[in-house]
Amino acid sequence: MSRGQYPSTRMRRNRMTAFSRRLVAETRLDTADLIWPLFVIEGQNMAEPIDAMPGVFRYSIDQLLQQAAKAVELTIPAIAIFPSIDAALKDASGSLARDGDNLVCRAVSAVKAAFPDLGIICDVALDPFTAHGHDGLLDGDEILNDETITVLCEQAVHQANAGCDIIAPSDMMDGRVGEIRAALDASGHHNVQIMAYAAKYASGFYGPFRDAVRAGASLGKAGKLTYQMDPANSDEAMHEIALDLAEGADMVIVKPGMPYLDILARAKAEFGVPCIAYQVSGEYSMLCASFEKGWLDRERTILEATTCFKRAGADAVLTYFAPEIAMMIRR
Ligand code: PBG
Repeated sequence: MSRGQYPSTRMRRNRMTAFSRRLVAETRLDTADLIWPLFVIEGQNMAEPIDAMPGVFRYSIDQLLQQAAKAVELTIPAIAIFPSIDAALKDASGSLARDGDNLVCRAVSAVKAAFPDLGIICDVALDPFTAHGHDGLLDGDEILNDETITVLCEQAVHQANAGCDIIAPSDMMDGRVGEIRAALDASGHHNVQIMAYAAKYASGFYGPFRDAVRAGASLGKAGKLTYQMDPANSDEAMHEIALDLAEGADMVIVKPGMPYLDILARAKAEFGVPCIAYQVSGEYSMLCASFEKGWLDRERTILEATTCFKRAGADAVLTYFAPEIAMMIRR
């Protein structure tokens, strides 16, 4: 196709008026693109601020219900619930993950009972429950793959029993998606979806989240480098995604978000499956810090970042800004 040249072609013509900019926009945000991650704690009538994430709170279940109501009212399709567990209840093997009456399961049932049409997503990983903060079981310094999967399967089934719609394995053990799929199917949950954290990188951008769930202060020298991906790699992410899809993942997550848009774009182009971006805690806090300083314009920057996720190939975005974005879209 031959395209004209200046002066007959002027790229700026289409940009001159607001109506025209709207007409030619290739990407549009909708509240249907949003997933809102929320933190839950034990107690009553609690909304505990998280130091490293201004404007984000840990809610007791009664308060979580108010937030879920807000999600419904703002037509946000789904929330992701993360438990913040008392240190006294954590142990080396994350036993509480195997308890079908644990905090996250109770939170899921309460939200499901009150708002049956709101999608609920739960992480599958042991880090909220282990004293060391790793996503799996340890033998010395090694995070055990196969032994961990057994526990993850149990955790997933408990969460599905509680009413979780989408199981999101975020642990990065090899082969866990297939095993979790089989465990869900065997327990009558063949319609429960799996949103795999397929390309999950060992990232410094998770720092504030670990404050939020009070995990990860004692990860050791290698941190999560032996199971989460090296930020230097891209082909490897495609390999991870291919495996998770082959094992039965219904959707895949690329995480973190903004520094990894190239991975997201490749994932969408190469696989054509539902791709979800996670704008993680560090991205959230980084932006909030700049807003506080007056260095960035809050609404404009939030909308731009979200639009860019969609442009790069995301079908939806996990973002702590979800309710704020939904309010902006609706007005
Ligand atoms: C747990 C998990 C993490 C995040 C989501 N699930 C932290 C980690 O892997 O260390 C990070 C989310 C965020 O930073 O917003 N496996």
